[in-house]
Order: sequence, then structure tokens, then C-alpha cells
Amino acid sequence: MSPLPSNLAFVPFVSVENMMRLVHHIGIETVLIQLADEIEADFRRWESFDKTPRVASHSEVGVIELMPTSDGEMYGFKYVNGHPKNTHDGLQTVTAFGLLADVDTGYPMLLTEMTLLTALRTAATSAMAARHLAPKGAKTMAMIGNGAQAEFQCLAFKAICGIDTVRLFDIDPKATEKCAANLAGRGLNVMPCASGEAAMEGAEIITTCTADKQYATILTDNMVGSGVHINAIGGDCPGKTELHRDILLRSEIFVEYPEQTRIEGEIQQLEPDHVVTELWQVIVGQAAGRRDPRQITLFDSVGFAIEDFSALRYVHQAIQNTPFFTELDMLADPDDPRDLFGMLERSKG
Ligand SMILES: NC(=O)c1ccc[n+]([C@@H]2O[C@H](COP(=O)([O-])OP(=O)(O)OC[C@H]3O[C@@H](n4cnc5c(N)ncnc54)[C@H](O)[C@@H]3O)[C@@H](O)[C@H]2O)c1
Repeated sequence: MSPLPSNLAFVPFVSVENMMRLVHHIGIETVLIQLADEIEADFRRWESFDKTPRVASHSEVGVIELMPTSDGEMYGFKYVNGHPKNTHDGLQTVTAFGLLADVDTGYPMLLTEMTLLTALRTAATSAMAARHLAPKGAKTMAMIGNGAQAEFQCLAFKAICGIDTVRLFDIDPKATEKCAANLAGRGLNVMPCASGEAAMEGAEIITTCTADKQYATILTDNMVGSGVHINAIGGDCPGKTELHRDILLRSEIFVEYPEQTRIEGEIQQLEPDHVVTELWQVIVGQAAGRRDPRQITLFDSVGFAIEDFSALRYVHQAIQNTPFFTELDMLADPDDPRDLFGMLERSKG
């Protein structure tokens, strides 16, 4: 008879269905608030993490990336793709899954879907950054790009920054229609707009979240007035940007991890030594955030592994004593650790 695997052989697995049940159980705005706090707490201990730019495998149509990090106790990684052409074939631009492991044993502790979790953590990170950088009392956000991430961004800025109005624009009116319908009845004034310029009217925060595998110009210099905060999400690959270079030259730029952002972010358009501020330094008080009401602040977000690590740890805690996971028989774990072959043999019919 085959020996029974030890408890460690079973890895908690959160399927897409269980992630959705977990989010509804907690409430999406509460999840966004709690995730923002987890991510901010990890940014406060930035120096205790292993850091490396993500490992990207590019093709002509997209990118597949691995995003690892560790705090010495736990190790996490995310697999994520970015394929802007996918939506034309009825597929997602971004899909992801991730794993959290115990550094002491190397055994995985959690395997989870991360497509939904990436949208949640990206929105939570954006709003957390805006909490430090956006004009105080900002109420209106322009949301340019109304695809998969858009509603998550809008709800995070409502829950975390107190935004009450979103002005939506997308080159595809169907995306704006979808976004407006999904946001109806959630306590936001939702204003669909016919152009990027119209969306920008009265906005103190501008979020760009478009997908195109090229240097795009979603915002031109004349569209951006003084004093706004720009949350630039969609420029996150070599050759894929959203903002005109002149906007960057007028902005105070804040980034996650410069070594990665200089390759992937809006600042790939600038000299490699252009001065940027690391967001974690603002959070711990080592660097200034917004200093002046007329200043343009820009969060040049590309998404960094520590945000995924925080999200993985959050999910690992949140599923304890809940039905929102299954046990996956994922690790071969023989009774005698050196008898892997014997375990295989004993399992014969
Ligand atoms: N920074 C991060 O941490 C992070 C995380 C997740 C996704 N992203 C990036 O965010 C972007 C959006 O992701 P998504 O999943 O919402 O993609 P999506 O394909 O679902 O939506 C993108 C939307 O942008 C619109 N769009 C394209 N060009 C436009 C233009 N010129 N003006 C206005 N709208 C335009 C499209 O019509 C589409 O509705 C992607 O580029 C993705 O790589 C970044």
C-alpha cells in the first residue's frame, strides 16, 4: 500500500472561484484597504527584501514574466503575462498565478490564482502611493483605459483616497460602457467622456491604464495642468509607454524599484541617470513626497514583486479557517525522504 503523504505535501490552493468567494466574503473595498496597508507595511521594511528586476521573456506579441522576492522568512513569486492583442481574441491581456513558500524548509505554503489578485494589488498599490503623493482632498479622477483593471483602480481610489467622481475614457466606447455599468450603484459619480481631454476636466488625479505594445501617447503635455497627480499604470514594458516625454520632464517622478522601472517604466524615455524618488523612501520619511500644490507628481508604476509578496501573504492569512481553498497534492513527500523511488514503486497498482 502507498504510504500516506505528510501534511506538508498538501499545499493550500486558491482557485479563481475561491478567490471570488473570498473577496465577496470580506468585501472588495475592505480587501483593497487591507491590501494597501499590507503593501505599505512591506514598503516600510523595503531593505529586508531580496530585490531583482523581474525576469521577462519577450515575444513580438507580448511578454511572460517571473517576479520573485523573499524577506528571509517567506519566498514568493508570480507568473504573469502581458498580451495586449489577446482581448481581440476574447482572451485576457494579463493573467497570473503565484506561490508562497517557507524559506526554512523550501516547501510551498500557498498556490493561488493571481489574475484577480494582481488587479486588486495593483489598484491597492496605486491608491496607497496616491495617499502619499496626490493633492490633499482630491475628489475627481480621470480614468483613461477602461479595460480589466479599471474598476479596481476606481474603487481603490474611492476606498483609500476618498475620490467621489471618476471621469472615464477609452478609445473603445464599449469598454467605457462596461466600466460605467460595473461601477453603477457603488457610491461614485461616474462620468463617461468622449475624449481624453474631456476626461481630464477638473481631475486632480489622472490614471492611465491602457494596453498597447508600443510607445503610445495617451497624455500629451498640453493636457496636463499643474498640481495634478498622475498614476501611470500601463507603461510597464520596454517599448511600451503612455506619457509624452515632456510630461516626465515637468514632473517629480516616484517609482517602485528604479532598476526595474528604468527598463520598463515611463522613464525608459529619459536619460538613465534622471533623478527619481523611490516610493518606499517617501513612506518612511527619508524623502519628500508632494512639496508644493502646483507640482505634478507622477507614480511611474510597473508593478514590483514585493507587492505580490504582500498580496500572497495576505491571502495566506485570509484563508485560514475558511472554506475558500482546497488542498493540492502537489509535493512528493515520501515517509523516508531518501526513498523517493520506493514511494513510486509502492504506488504501482
Ligand atoms: N503597473 C502595474 O502594476 C500593472 C499591473 C497590471 C496591469 N498593468 C498594465 O495595465 C494595462 C491595462 O491592463 P488591463 O488588464 O486593464 O488591459 P485591457 O486590455 O483589459 O484594457 C486596456 C484598455 O485600454 C484601452 N486603450 C488602448 N489604447 C488606448 C488609448 N490610446 N486611449 C484610451 N484607451 C486605450 C483599450 O481599448 C482597453 O479597453 C496593461 O498595459 C497592463 O500591462 C500594469
